[in-house]
Amino acid sequence: MAQVLPKRRRVRPGTPSGAAPSVPPPARFPGVAIYLVESRMGRSRRAFLTRLALSKGFSVLDAYSPEVTHVVMEQTSAAEAIAWQEHKAASAPPGWTYPALLDVSWFTESMAVGRPVPVEHRHHLEEALETLAEAAGFEGSEGRLLSFCRAASVLKALPSPITALSQLQGLPHFGAHSSRVVQEVLEYGACEEVERVRCSERYQTMKLFTQIFGVGVKTADQWYREGLRTLDDLRKQPQKLTQQQKIGLQHHQDLATPVQQEEAQALQQLVEAAVQQALPGATVTLTGGFRRGKLQGHDVDFLLTHPQEGQEAGLLPRVMHHLQNQGLILYHLYQHSHFGDPTRKVRQSHTMDFFERNFCIFRLPLPPEAAVGGFQRHCGAWKAVRVDLVVTPISQFPFALLGWTGSKHFERELRCFSRREKGLCLSSHALFDLKQVCCQGLALGRGNTGIWVLGPPSLNGTSIPKTSGAKSGSNPV
Ligand code: CTP
Ligand code: MN
Ligand code: MN
Repeated sequence: MAQVLPKRRRVRPGTPSGAAPSVPPPARFPGVAIYLVESRMGRSRRAFLTRLALSKGFSVLDAYSPEVTHVVMEQTSAAEAIAWQEHKAASAPPGWTYPALLDVSWFTESMAVGRPVPVEHRHHLEEALETLAEAAGFEGSEGRLLSFCRAASVLKALPSPITALSQLQGLPHFGAHSSRVVQEVLEYGACEEVERVRCSERYQTMKLFTQIFGVGVKTADQWYREGLRTLDDLRKQPQKLTQQQKIGLQHHQDLATPVQQEEAQALQQLVEAAVQQALPGATVTLTGGFRRGKLQGHDVDFLLTHPQEGQEAGLLPRVMHHLQNQGLILYHLYQHSHFGDPTRKVRQSHTMDFFERNFCIFRLPLPPEAAVGGFQRHCGAWKAVRVDLVVTPISQFPFALLGWTGSKHFERELRCFSRREKGLCLSSHALFDLKQVCCQGLALGRGNTGIWVLGPPSLNGTSIPKTSGAKSGSNPV
């Protein structure tokens, strides 16, 4: 915990503001020379913080100079900090290295533990790149979205945080733009472009709208261009909303509150009970973010199947019937399975598949002591939670499980890798060799699913084509 420092201290008469005690103790941390920026902080607080740091053995410089390694600012935006730095740099000698620009929280934490805490840019770096990826997605720039996502993933995969720009050398997926973002965050603690995006009306509105159940980037963009900005703006224009979006708005507060792991577990039990009633032997598997070990999610994803191929037919409507009878369903949008020509459509979209599914909003009963969104709820309370129920025949289960576990970025990269490096098309239904399907005219329509599945024979009623890219019987993952 960072030590709480008094906001303002009265300057004792006769004490020159900002002045250090006459004989400061020797500096204990040779690599650290702090400069406290007076604007926003105020004179007397600066003097107090200076005395505090000196008493703990830190070196604090009263004037800004090339010796300064850590610049500490209070209540300063990243853009202001960068402008300040640039102004100072204008008169700096050549070859001078920038000091770190830091918020006062770094200072207070360092004082609390009695030594300089590491300057933690790691999260800032990933967040900065992910924000730019998200913003690119809002503008429909798939290419830029992918570049920033890839760069952020590379950082996440590193064993230790990046602390210097030189460490980016040799890393894949770091183009000029992502490198510049990292450089700024390392040097100034924030990136001006990212801060600008975050504060922009466009980004904030698109984020708000796309969070609504049933609203994608296209709809959000259209509403934005029509001048709509808030949820109230939308509520005033119900004619613009689909039934799904109306329900989404109605339960927006709950749906915007992250689903917790315990809630996912409680939902799993409810779904499992309904599935057992509907079809004994059928199984429920948790997928999505919670299967990846995430502690929170925007929804809960389940995959339903039955160990005997074909038994899953008609399962979902029966499950829904049981759930509805218990009053657990606030809304659901049912989609039939629509197997067409999978080789064509699956290649176009990285997430699209043809499984039968239900996009639901559950009315999840809460234990009396549960607090949602910081509010305590009383007995009989419930929370609206988004749940995806997807049904797969057992022959496609491994691919469905892989495809629905995510993340979206991982799935996209995996499918891209399969296609480019292995010459195989991976979807949530199958892994198959496009060349063989096309060249030999192997009929899609064989077996139960009509799809050539590369995997253990037991997973698939059809024969297994030999391909150069993958051994039959090998793990499709
Ligand atoms: N998916 C899919 N087709 C869809 C929707 C989702 O194949 N129409 C897959 C995606 O690969 C995605 C996974 O299912 O990664 C889970 O989707 P989603 O619930 O949107 O994301 P999560 O990773 O679970 O994240 P969150 O915790 O926010 O729900
Ligand atoms: Mn999910
Ligand atoms: Mn989902």
